[in-house]
Amino acid sequence: MKTILVVIGSVRPRRVGPQIATWLVGEVAGHAELSFEILDLRDWPLPMNTEPAQPKHLVDAEYATPETRAFSRKIAVADGFILLTPQYNWGYPAALKNALDHLYHEWTGKPATILSYGARGGAKAAAQLKEVLTGLGMRVVEPFLAISLKSLDMDDSHLVTDPNAAFAPASEDLRHSVEALVRAFGPAA
Ligand SMILES: Cc1cc2nc3c(=O)[nH]c(=O)nc-3n(C[C@H](O)[C@H](O)[C@H](O)COP(=O)(O)O)c2cc1C
Repeated sequence: MKTILVVIGSVRPRRVGPQIATWLVGEVAGHAELSFEILDLRDWPLPMNTEPAQPKHLVDAEYATPETRAFSRKIAVADGFILLTPQYNWGYPAALKNALDHLYHEWTGKPATILSYGARGGAKAAAQLKEVLTGLGMRVVEPFLAISLKSLDMDDSHLVTDPNAAFAPASEDLRHSVEALVRAFGPAA
């Protein structure tokens, strides 16, 4: 069984991100080869650029801060990732970039796919994030999943009114992304 972390890349006070993450893990619960766990970046407060060394050059995860060391341990034991990214001004959130940049070897070589969302699915954020994952030496797994928020029923707080019904049309695409993740681990996954 491989462990896939479903990373919520948005840390805003009111977010669609956890709604998508909760729907996603409900959809994939009981998978034969992969187990899924939500990692909410809001639970892993990493101040901006507090590490003096470039993570790529560190051996044995000798990070300066306890926050980075804890995050390093969490990411190191994961086998793969589904990164949930909203689109903010045509890009992906700073909190997600900050989290990625805090580590290096913990990400490298591991399969990762992207679920983007935004008014029209957040493709620009996904494209930028793909570049960064490639730079980290991750095994980028496609197809990516894109959820368009434009046509969904939203409440006054800009949250999705009925997440399970709203995201149901994305179930088939999610299945394809998860199958691709399984293939990325090879026949012995
Ligand atoms: C700062 C900011 C910038 C945004 N820029 C875009 C954008 O470029 N394209 C888009 O489709 N939606 C944009 N949106 C709308 C977000 O996709 C939408 O608010 C979504 O719910 C954000 O995800 P979150 O609630 O998980 O943070 C933006 C939202 C914020 C807060």
